[in-house]
Amino acid sequence: MKSAMGIFSRNRTNDTNGTETAAVSTPIKVAVVYYSSTGTIAEVSKQIAQYAEKAGAEVRLLKAAELAPQEAIDANTAWAANAAATADIPEATPADIEWADAVIFGSPTRFGNIASQLKQFIDTLGGLWAQGKLADKVYSGFASSSTTHGGQESTLLALYNSFHHFGGIVVAPGYTDPAKFADGNPYGTSHVDAQGNNPVDHTTREAARVQAERIVRITTALKTGLATT
Ligand SMILES: Cc1cc2nc3c(=O)[nH]c(=O)nc-3n(C[C@H](O)[C@H](O)[C@H](O)COP(=O)(O)O)c2cc1C
Repeated sequence: MKSAMGIFSRNRTNDTNGTETAAVSTPIKVAVVYYSSTGTIAEVSKQIAQYAEKAGAEVRLLKAAELAPQEAIDANTAWAANAAATADIPEATPADIEWADAVIFGSPTRFGNIASQLKQFIDTLGGLWAQGKLADKVYSGFASSSTTHGGQESTLLALYNSFHHFGGIVVAPGYTDPAKFADGNPYGTSHVDAQGNNPVDHTTREAARVQAERIVRITTALKTGLATT
């Protein structure tokens, strides 16, 4: 098994007393990996990536590869528009997950579960899992649905099942900031798109900010702590 010490780099430095201590000098690495058909989760992903970067992380914004046939995409205006708008975003690979200290996954609800495209990507991580390389990283998630009680929590909890199998450190936003009482989902940022009639709004952007900042803060603390032990 690759230990956390292997994942987290460590440098020697002097504190104010001149004592040599271990410290983390490189920014933490965050991979934001999402799937989105009609653009809602793509928009939330951008927010999370931007806020994580603003909080000091090195960020990779990545999408799960599409599995649907081109005819299905072309038949849905919003889906086709999102595919075109996100064409430049690289597709996630297992190497991106190995690279990251923290991974934040995003998915629309699909009958209360994650989208098959994201699941397919997660299923490609078996090789890393077998080598212990998914363990000791921070994981978190975000979701969207069409309706208010349409399955956001069950989608996030289904996603979080896999994180336990990874040996991951699950960091949910909880109600750690007043903004979380507005979006109301302690499991992860979530947005109700009302069948495309409710674009990503201030409430969801604030939830994205809180989650991104928390992931960077907790991951940095873990990295620093592990580097000093
Ligand atoms: C096959 C399928 C199943 C869905 N299941 C649900 C559901 O159970 N509850 C719900 O509220 N929305 C459901 N939706 C709607 C999407 O989860 C929702 O519109 C989401 O915000 C779309 O995200 P996107 O724009 O990033 O693709 C479903 C959509 C599809 C295509």
